[in-house]
Amino acid sequence: MNREDFPMLNDEIVYFDNSATSFKPQCVIEAMNEYYTKYSANAHRGDYDISLRVDQEYERVRTKVKELISAQRDEEIVFTKGTTDGLNMVVFGYMAKFLQKGDEVLISKSEHASNVLPWFVLAKKKGIVIKYIPLDADYSLNVSAIEPMITEKTKVISLAHVTNVIGDVRDVDAIGEICMKHDILFVVDAAQSIGHMKIDVQKSHIDFLAFSAHKMLGPTGVGALYGKYSLLNDMDPVIYGGGMNAFFESDYSYELKEVPWKFEAGTPNIAEVIGMGRAIDYLQEMGLDKIHEYEMHLKELAIAQLEKIPNIKVFNKKAESGIITFNIDKVFSQDAVIFLNRFKICVRSGNHCAKILKDEIGVTNTCRASFYFYNTEEEVLKLVEALKCQDKIYDNII
Ligand code: ALA
Repeated sequence: MNREDFPMLNDEIVYFDNSATSFKPQCVIEAMNEYYTKYSANAHRGDYDISLRVDQEYERVRTKVKELISAQRDEEIVFTKGTTDGLNMVVFGYMAKFLQKGDEVLISKSEHASNVLPWFVLAKKKGIVIKYIPLDADYSLNVSAIEPMITEKTKVISLAHVTNVIGDVRDVDAIGEICMKHDILFVVDAAQSIGHMKIDVQKSHIDFLAFSAHKMLGPTGVGALYGKYSLLNDMDPVIYGGGMNAFFESDYSYELKEVPWKFEAGTPNIAEVIGMGRAIDYLQEMGLDKIHEYEMHLKELAIAQLEKIPNIKVFNKKAESGIITFNIDKVFSQDAVIFLNRFKICVRSGNHCAKILKDEIGVTNTCRASFYFYNTEEEVLKLVEALKCQDKIYDNII
């Protein structure tokens, strides 16, 4: 679908690493180019026309993000560098302030490093306790195990909406209900879902949600953090400087700006925010339901074919996302993807920054093919055909 919109797409390569980053449509590139060539001023600092235009375009993206995730108000959207930045802001700006020694945070072993390591730091610094929600036999989250784990010390549940290796889609509505019932904060890492399926932070009772633009057709280095207004008001910034303060005096007194600007110190990534806005327009025009449906079609086609090839183990056949994680028996995953590269097929290998998932799936490294709407059935079949030649993997290797 829409392949002509993407300058990176051609017949020479098959790009199946969309969970790492997506390609960008020309309109996103042009939106950023337009900023640099037609109104390239700073934001929130000038009183002349081109600067006022920057403010307008920049703040308009806040509304677009709000609409994309069905937040209540624009002020609940903070521009960040990406998912990692957003989750770190939540942990070190809010949780470090309010969590006490012994408070419990529930995560899972299939989380990405950015939803694990900040919590580890808080565990070491403040003595919070991290508990792991178990996974089912198919490595998806066992949602029914959550409630029995909850104690009076449970303060936070922090999970990916879609995990980046298993690709399981968590039932955020059900988990949000549990959080509401037990007065627990619900933090969601939406890096792998934002460009692929609908998210409604109000319906799912989400307190904080972080995502990056670059996995949803936008530029690198930018993303957004959603937080309920009252929570953002109580949250402290992690970065201080220009643009986020109302005043400061030589006697150390200072006052910060209102939410969300108190979180946006320094000159922001203006071009990237504008590019992210254009990416949101593009996704909204296409329709996220249509995107998800098409990705599932590609995934089902791939699984049906891969099942016929001996020695291939797919770890996540049932996951309802366009992510397929597999290994070839007795083949190191990096060797497998280097072999696929001979066919100009781009697939990622390794632990994918989910380094404790190995406790559950029993292997450290896997190959991951991740689809997006611009991939085709023909490309899926090229991957299948290449994998059929697996006996040649170690040919010509010295
Ligand atoms: N977090 C990205 C991935 O899963 C880079 O590949």
